[in-house]
Amino acid sequence: MRVVLGVAGGIAAYKAVALLRLLREAGHDVRVVPTAAALRFVGAPTWAALSGEPVTGDLFDDVENVTHVEVGRTADLVVVAPATADLLARAAAGRADDLLTATLLMATCPVVMAPAMHTQMWQHPATVANVATLRARGVHVLDPDDGRLTGTDSGPGRLPEPEAIMAAALRLAGPQDLVGRRVVISAGGTQEPLDPVRFLGNRSSGRQGVALARAAHARGADVLLVAANMSVPPPPGVEVRTVTTAAELHDAMLEAATDADIVVMAAAVADFRPAQVASTKIKKTGSHAPTVELVQNPDILAALASNRPSPAQLVIGFAAETGDDNASILDHARAKAGRKGADLLVVNPVDDGRGFATPDNDITILDPTGQVLATATGTKDHVAHTVWDLVATMGDNLDDNPA
Ligand code: CTP
Repeated sequence: MRVVLGVAGGIAAYKAVALLRLLREAGHDVRVVPTAAALRFVGAPTWAALSGEPVTGDLFDDVENVTHVEVGRTADLVVVAPATADLLARAAAGRADDLLTATLLMATCPVVMAPAMHTQMWQHPATVANVATLRARGVHVLDPDDGRLTGTDSGPGRLPEPEAIMAAALRLAGPQDLVGRRVVISAGGTQEPLDPVRFLGNRSSGRQGVALARAAHARGADVLLVAANMSVPPPPGVEVRTVTTAAELHDAMLEAATDADIVVMAAAVADFRPAQVASTKIKKTGSHAPTVELVQNPDILAALASNRPSPAQLVIGFAAETGDDNASILDHARAKAGRKGADLLVVNPVDDGRGFATPDNDITILDPTGQVLATATGTKDHVAHTVWDLVATMGDNLDDNPA
């Protein structure tokens, strides 16, 4: 997507640097258009280096390319962060006295503004009226956060966090092919307690499940993330339920699945748990090493697939696989696809340290017969969108879902 990042002259301009990085990491082309005042806070070389594009806020630079028209006309999304009281006033008045306001007049794509200013400015009738005017024209003006402001003040007026601005912007401009869908996603890895301080766990960070949740939210879905011991924060805009053990995850997923259109098991579930959980810390007793007896956990994915509230509910599993002497990664995955009863199995290799706690992934999506429906390599966000692209093509089936 071609994104214009407008930056107005407030101290929160430094946070727009983080927003620029997030947009670039998600694969978007970003043209930064700062106001003259913004350039007094963060200089043009910073924006140019991080965006890889020329930076000017002046109408009289680059005139031969008709920049004041072209930047807005070619944008798929305009995000203004921070939007100061002055910028909101100039935009509401329809002025075009710098490149950013001219771009706002030219743009026909979605426009998101993230205000940041002192509380008194935000609550002043002039700003209230300007925000109302912009919203009535279809501009998506976010509410500022309530929190610490410049100096010792605090109150409403703080710039929302870059992740939250990004989530709101992408939901506005992304393909809205999951609108009206309730999507439940498990992420992370379960922990099975041995005693009050120890557990059996696994290396899943939750990154892929979080990327699936973020992408589903951007595409308009109503998302519940069932989070098991994740080492990354959940994305903004999604509902989160936290669990620890496989038994808790089982109960949370089966309950949440009752009104879901799509259920995704991206969590790494412990297949076994200790038969006994010691109520006090297990101590060393001489040289004798204790033996831990294990019992099997339920297969949550199989339970979800065989207890669907509606035949139209889509159930998606993941399979982190390694190859061995007897079978390749794909052979193991094909056997699993048949066994689990899920509609789609997303296979990713985890040999040689691949897949876990890394930003990238490499996936193959199988149907229950083991046929390859799609493949993708790249960031976990890119891979997540490949899953939803495929799901979107299966939309007719989902439309029969009464959930
Ligand atoms: N899964 C589950 N419940 C379990 C184990 C796994 O729901 N008790 C789900 C995972 O969330 C994933 C899929 O099943 O979506 C495959 O997980 P994986 O660990 O690869 O498969 P297992 O069933 O454990 O098979 P195996 O250990 O033989 O590879």
